[in-house]
Amino acid sequence: TKVEKYVAELVIPPVMPRDYRDRKADVDRYTIGVRQFRQQVLPPGNPATTVWGYGSVRHRGTFSFPALTIEAEFGRAVRVTWMNQLRNAQGRYLPHLLPVDPTLHWANPPGGLSGRDSRPAFTSTPGPYRGPVPIVTHLHGGLNEEESDGYAEAWYLPDARDIPRGYASVGSFYEEFGRKFAVRFGQGWGSGAAVFQYANRGRAATLWFHDHALGVTRLNVYAGLAGFYLLRGGPDDLPQGVLPGPAPKPADPPGTRYYEIPVVIQDRSFNNDGSLSYPTSRAFFDGFKGPYVPGSDIAPIWNPEFFGNSIVTNGRTWPVLSVEPRRYRFRFLNGCNSRFLILKIIADRSARRPASPALPFWQIGSDGGFLPAPVQRDQLLTAPAERADVIVDFTSLPVGTELYLVNEAPDAPFQGGTAGTDFEPADPRTTGQVMKFVVRPLTAPDTTVPPAHLALPAFRPLGPASRTRKLSLNEVNSARLNGVGPRAVLLGTLGPDGKPVLMGWDGPITEDPALGATEIWEFHNLTKDAHPIHIHEVQFQVVDRQPAGQAARPPDPWENGFKDTVITYPNGVTRVRVKFDQPGRYMWHCHMLDHEDNEMMRPYRIGPA
Ligand code: C2O
Ligand code: CU
Repeated sequence: TKVEKYVAELVIPPVMPRDYRDRKADVDRYTIGVRQFRQQVLPPGNPATTVWGYGSVRHRGTFSFPALTIEAEFGRAVRVTWMNQLRNAQGRYLPHLLPVDPTLHWANPPGGLSGRDSRPAFTSTPGPYRGPVPIVTHLHGGLNEEESDGYAEAWYLPDARDIPRGYASVGSFYEEFGRKFAVRFGQGWGSGAAVFQYANRGRAATLWFHDHALGVTRLNVYAGLAGFYLLRGGPDDLPQGVLPGPAPKPADPPGTRYYEIPVVIQDRSFNNDGSLSYPTSRAFFDGFKGPYVPGSDIAPIWNPEFFGNSIVTNGRTWPVLSVEPRRYRFRFLNGCNSRFLILKIIADRSARRPASPALPFWQIGSDGGFLPAPVQRDQLLTAPAERADVIVDFTSLPVGTELYLVNEAPDAPFQGGTAGTDFEPADPRTTGQVMKFVVRPLTAPDTTVPPAHLALPAFRPLGPASRTRKLSLNEVNSARLNGVGPRAVLLGTLGPDGKPVLMGWDGPITEDPALGATEIWEFHNLTKDAHPIHIHEVQFQVVDRQPAGQAARPPDPWENGFKDTVITYPNGVTRVRVKFDQPGRYMWHCHMLDHEDNEMMRPYRIGPA
């Protein structure tokens, strides 16, 4: 069926209500659950969609996809009890909404605590796993301590009454570290909940939280488990009134106008009954029909990249936003599994692509907070997990003007290059459109600083590096498909002979920077696609990119701030400068969720073992 566009208003996520503020400890306390519910994602008149989402367990009506926004203040910790409530009213566990491939290396509850999170052996082609679903939440971009980072093996099951005997209720990370955490916060863990604390000592920035359970992250996030976490204040923020605002605050009266709006863009596909659609077998990608060969062959359900045929923005397909002729601050997040986005504002949505821009973006921030200076851009290229904090100036547009936010990246893995020359832009009728702006009369004068005159907070770059590590991005092809289809995408190192050493998730830790060290990490992308590489616990600087056989070129101007996710292009090297200032075990990985779930993720350790 055809989904009508620009019917529903853009949802501006309200603030996640906290349980209380502990003034003595200077901590904001939250109890946030993960539940299954129905939401009108498609326009009114269409069936509702069953999704998963976060919400405050102590406050009715707060469960949504995406989640309500956590508002955090510099220097005041946020402590969240994250609860896995994927169970029904009778207390029985809910199986996954989407097909779980049990042959990936994953958060396998039967395998869980008894050893490393496992890759079970099957003798014939297995069907999807139907057991209770593990979750664990990661605050992406936060400078988190290891026990609160949402390590992929720190998952836990719902507290349901019918968990089968022999199932581990928590992942192997807890076996190693659990006692320490329990003592630390005076809280238990593992019976359907984990208590994580975020210190909020980083730069003011657009962070986000999402699920990170090993081998099912792509499915848990696709089902809806993501939300914004806005860190404000401190030495790296601007005073109020300089930038467009306000953003939502707790207990705003209905009808409050917002000029600072977080916008998460995600591609999804829907079945006719409104349910989320996701490939049920590897046959979708390359026709592989099995049989599965234990341990050595391609996964029968996992697909290398997911591309939906609809664009969902803040939990609704193709919404519309009424704007006043004034400046707005949008915090864009690419929340797609694998899709890169090239966002542009144009006047005619049916224009041939690439289309000419009607309004520029003034980018003021990226993943790790403000840039050194605003950058004017006609289009925003963003990879999965990247954020772009921008000002769009609608001032002087006549009331009634209609503009469209469109997407010109390909409906396929991104490889770099130029739309219309190197690749076919997204289908202009569907995934090539995102949302609509309609200009309404001004209700109050705009006193914010024009972006061209904005002075952003002083920028302190990282110091010199003490060593360089060579890391590799690889795609391993399946012999059984005559070497065509990827069996898995792996991270590894680069040996002294320049040949990749494939590691994946299970390989020994090779990246082990000393506490306080600054290093250069070189990503050698040996695949044919671009991959966004994310490092936990840090905000890094992009040093340069060097296509094979060419001179290194500096980062793009909008990459001159701090980043936690960087696009690595095929056939070349991408270098980042990283300072590691918190001890513990973390991860670095590709943020195409389908890749991260199948070995394109590595553990790393800061400080001594
Ligand atoms: Cu956004 Cu390791 O994650
Ligand atoms: Cu990747």
